[in-house]
Amino acid sequence: MNEITVQANRRRTFAIISHPDAGKTTLTEKLLLYGGAIHLAGSVKARKAQKHAVSDWMEIEKQRGISVTSSVLQFDYQDFRVNILDTPGHQDFSEDTYRTLMAADSAVMLIDVAKGVEEQTKKLFRVCKERGIPIFTFVNKLDRFGRNPFELMEEIEKVLGIRAYPMNWPVGVDGNYRGIYNRQLAQVELFDKDGSHGQRALASTLGSVNDPAFREVLGETVYQALCDDIALLDMAGDQFELAKVAKGELTPMFFGSAMTNFGVQPFLEEFLRLAPPPAPRQSSEGPVGSASGFFSAFVFKIQANMNPAHRDRITFIRICSGKFERGMNVYHVQSGKQVRLSQPQQFLAQERNIVEDAYPGDIIGLFDPGLFGIGDTLCQPGQPVRFQDFPVFSPEHFARVQAKDTMKRKQFVKGMVQLAQEGAVQVFRQPEVVESFVVGAVGTLQFEVLQYRLKQEYGVDILMHPLPFGVARWLQGDGLNPKALKSMDNGLVLEDTKGRPLVLITTEWQLNWVKERNPGVEFLVTPPSLA
Ligand code: G4P
Repeated sequence: MNEITVQANRRRTFAIISHPDAGKTTLTEKLLLYGGAIHLAGSVKARKAQKHAVSDWMEIEKQRGISVTSSVLQFDYQDFRVNILDTPGHQDFSEDTYRTLMAADSAVMLIDVAKGVEEQTKKLFRVCKERGIPIFTFVNKLDRFGRNPFELMEEIEKVLGIRAYPMNWPVGVDGNYRGIYNRQLAQVELFDKDGSHGQRALASTLGSVNDPAFREVLGETVYQALCDDIALLDMAGDQFELAKVAKGELTPMFFGSAMTNFGVQPFLEEFLRLAPPPAPRQSSEGPVGSASGFFSAFVFKIQANMNPAHRDRITFIRICSGKFERGMNVYHVQSGKQVRLSQPQQFLAQERNIVEDAYPGDIIGLFDPGLFGIGDTLCQPGQPVRFQDFPVFSPEHFARVQAKDTMKRKQFVKGMVQLAQEGAVQVFRQPEVVESFVVGAVGTLQFEVLQYRLKQEYGVDILMHPLPFGVARWLQGDGLNPKALKSMDNGLVLEDTKGRPLVLITTEWQLNWVKERNPGVEFLVTPPSLA
């Protein structure tokens, strides 16, 4: 194996998906604690008046206590190099979340033991399922009373349609848990109660379930309950098959408490062992992965003004093949230009580090002069591959926006263009209308984010009028001519930022009516490819 394959194989790049408050921030912090990236958990959080993720940057997140951007945290654990992608945890599903998951090789689904599978978890799960990435489940908050683990297994299977295989099982009765049982090793691990609320790694005692000493410590009731549960699992449960996990058909399930650290380390170790290394990605030249002998990467996120003091724009790329070296020249496929990557960045909370080299599975941030777009391909000159485009979501909410103060028009247009490139919202123009844009979003929170960011980052107050449309369709076909566009009068005909025509319509029902009147026009849910 060459150096690149060895390095790629030790990478684990994943995202944690969960409903707000399930404990994603806490678990992320604990993984950093066990990875040695921070030394005292709670320190990051405690410094902040409001609750938000370690990796949050933006002011809006602090104010609202939500995470609206995604970023990556990296640390080493044993032989592994771990990359955690932070997915936005807010209620509105945004494309940003989807894009982040495009850069992940697996996902950890975090579930609150008392609440089970919640709304946002379902949505994010569906995206992971569509991508076919392995999903691992961590049932959190075992330190307090919750639902019966069998019931949760059943709920996962029923609601999400994936079989669950408990890798470990809580030891205790009626929600009073003291440890976990490792099914593979038939080993019990009992965790100390250290009263520090998990600031430091937690001590534990490990032993065989058959050891009389453990039986005595557990007490007869707990011991019997554990034996009964295990017997039931072994008898009625699925077999563990890694191939099924890889295909997203079976989710390995773990139990623990991110707050007290109970079960965090066993989860981390087992997860890293079972989670896949960077997977090849489809391109114009077939799959490209760590074994391909050249550098390639794709853009999955762009964020302007991450640091208000610098006003810079950062493009996040995920490396697919080859070795990245600082200062290297790469070919940007979409523009046909060569770019020198001189100041690649990696991020931990507020800190930035210059990256000297990176391998498949790694994420790096590049300063971007406005060249890159979401889904773009970067590759070694002379090796032109082009990765598949990212899917674009059909927006369902629309509003017309304009600058309150016409003198700020220049700043307004700049902000709209940049935020459109970032994919914060989709921006459309109505032909012949210059003073306003129409924006489309998958969730209405994106509008609030737009309004806030235009004010904070560009100094522009906007007027925003919701539009009564619920359906967008891109138009193409032989029958597309000015007369046809005119006939769509009760819709709103617009152009996207790449000049492709689309129409906004109130309802699906009305869409059918418009379709019938325009037999030569195709109505596409997402924009036609420009390639
Ligand atoms: P999120 O990022 O998924 O939104 O959740 P976050 O980690 O911020 O956790 C949400 C709340 O759940 C926090 O309580 C956190 O302390 C608590 N929590 C996380 N993991 C556990 C756990 O294993 N057990 C218990 N009992 N609680 C847990 P909070 O009161 O909202 O905030 P804080 O004051 O504790 O920071």
